[in-house]
Amino acid sequence: PAVRKDILKSKVMGHRGAALLAPENTLASIKAAAETGVKWVEIDVYLIDKGGLIIFHDDTLERCTNGAGVTRETDPLVASTLDAGAWFAPEFKGESIPTLIEALDCIQALGLGLNLEIKHDTADVENIVPTVLDTLKEYWVDNEKLLISSFNHDALKMVFELDPQRHLGQLYEAIPANWQAQLEQIHAYSLNCDYSLLTQAQAQAVKAEGYKLLCYTANDPETVTEHWEWGMDAVITDNPSVFASFI
Ligand code: G3P
Ligand code: MG
Repeated sequence: PAVRKDILKSKVMGHRGAALLAPENTLASIKAAAETGVKWVEIDVYLIDKGGLIIFHDDTLERCTNGAGVTRETDPLVASTLDAGAWFAPEFKGESIPTLIEALDCIQALGLGLNLEIKHDTADVENIVPTVLDTLKEYWVDNEKLLISSFNHDALKMVFELDPQRHLGQLYEAIPANWQAQLEQIHAYSLNCDYSLLTQAQAQAVKAEGYKLLCYTANDPETVTEHWEWGMDAVITDNPSVFASFI
């Protein structure tokens, strides 16, 4: 089994910042996470066609902004003027969709670790990966406070080829039969999966191979009581405050 240095040093990670406390994937959400005392946040990075990396989860704009249409077809200038906060609660009116650079600056200023999830449209891989890596190279300082994750194995393979020292997290919903080969191929740091689809045998196998095991998205500590016993290293949650005793 691979022995890996523990860069996580923490059992709780805020999801999309802290998606239950503030509008997801905004700077307000990252700050809300930091206020809970959590040491790491997960956010989603998305490439739009005309260039520009934004922190956003959905393929369309409606749910989380006052705009409409396909996210990737949005003009970057228009994206920067959308309101990404009012949908969540009136006091967040005026929050914008952050650029990757804005999010990196905010997260580092708060002293947090970052799990940067590369969104997984296969057509994007050759465009999004080099752009993300170039931005990280210029704007992110501490490689030991950075995990790059994706459901898209090809995206992670490309990260590994271009920048092999990065810590990589292979994301799954249910863990597939070929997980071991995939993790080996990218010298993964962690396997990140849906807690509700994980079995005890899978958890133990992942841990036996020396990987960190992260589970999303649990918002009630009681849903993951067994998972800690199975070896889960960290939980990814919309509400880090309910996991305060684990932080
Ligand atoms: O990284 C865990 C989680 O964020 C993966 O799913 O859809 O919330 O980005 P999603
Ligand atoms: Mg995500």
